[in-house]
Amino acid sequence: MKAIVIEHAGGPEALQLKEVPTPQVKPGWSLVKVKGFGINRSEIFTRNGESPTVKFPRILGIECVGEVADTTDAAHLPVGQKVVSIMGGMGRAFDGGYAEYALLPNKQIYPVTTKLSWAELAAVPETYFTAYGSLFNAHIQTAKTLLVRGATSGVGSAAIKLAKAINPAVKIAGSTRSEAKFAELKQIGCDEPVVDSDGAVQTAAHFDAILELVGAKTLTNSLQHLQPRGYCCLIGGLGDEWTIKDFDPFVIPSGGSLTSFGSGFEVTEAKFNDMLQLIEDHHIDVKPTKTFDLAHTADAQAALDQPGSFGKVVVLP
Ligand SMILES: NC(=O)c1ccc[n+]([C@@H]2O[C@H](COP(=O)([O-])OP(=O)(O)OC[C@H]3O[C@@H](n4cnc5c(N)ncnc54)[C@H](OP(=O)(O)O)[C@@H]3O)[C@@H](O)[C@H]2O)c1
Repeated sequence: MKAIVIEHAGGPEALQLKEVPTPQVKPGWSLVKVKGFGINRSEIFTRNGESPTVKFPRILGIECVGEVADTTDAAHLPVGQKVVSIMGGMGRAFDGGYAEYALLPNKQIYPVTTKLSWAELAAVPETYFTAYGSLFNAHIQTAKTLLVRGATSGVGSAAIKLAKAINPAVKIAGSTRSEAKFAELKQIGCDEPVVDSDGAVQTAAHFDAILELVGAKTLTNSLQHLQPRGYCCLIGGLGDEWTIKDFDPFVIPSGGSLTSFGSGFEVTEAKFNDMLQLIEDHHIDVKPTKTFDLAHTADAQAALDQPGSFGKVVVLP
């Protein structure tokens, strides 16, 4: 099969298209014919050599969508079944989705029912599931106002679309470092785009719910914009800082909550299919902003990693 193999850390050019043996099933694992996969920020970190537990050579890719090609669980995962998979060591401890086939543990292959195209479905697993779970951790159902910090990211833009479907009355502010992205943010349902400048969001407003995707770099500032009894959910680290020096916990407002979300701990087949149903019922546009073929996976990563990037980038092998 063709696969994108990384043999040493580096820039996009470290991702090499190679011919490698198609993996064979083993007990507890099944083979998925990959029809698409999304590009994730964490894979760019790994490519750069910033994931010390990942040993090279490796086929990266923490998610994929496709069909079961060979199975060790014919009852639950029959050949031809449409499936998605995310996390669980995929593309890190074992080879992942950047390939024509992926050999995956049965326990993390989730059958799905959906009418979405492969390109649309490929944009969904890690990105939309993370946005979906984070919104519930931030109690989106009862929020009157939501701030998405890092709103132009794949997860951020997905969160804006899903939030309006779950709670149509919620007013959404979304932050970006670039005012040039305001129009695109408005187009996907963000009521008030705001500039994030030097780690401070340029608004005086306070919010019932906050999704923090920029991470440790801006968390204290986000908590200063949280309403009493509000919920702030920490999801990402776009700001590339992982700890907070001299953190003052009393920045959390009275009755407010600081929580987090980790997709690897939360995904189940039932929750994933509930989210797909929400997407279909509300005709949420999950089309990726850019698509590439397998041979151009390096370009797909580069596209996500440039200043104008917006939304989800997908590869269709
Ligand atoms: N907890 C989980 O389970 C989970 C799951 C998936 C992803 N994540 C995390 O969620 C975050 C978003 O992931 P993604 O794949 O959706 O990201 P992405 O699409 O790659 O994000 C791209 C956006 O990041 C922003 N950005 C880039 N560098 C930045 C910096 N130094 N400071 C602030 N913003 C910066 C840019 O926004 P502007 O230029 O418009 O400001 C850009 O539009 C990542 O940190 C990822 O690791 C967590």
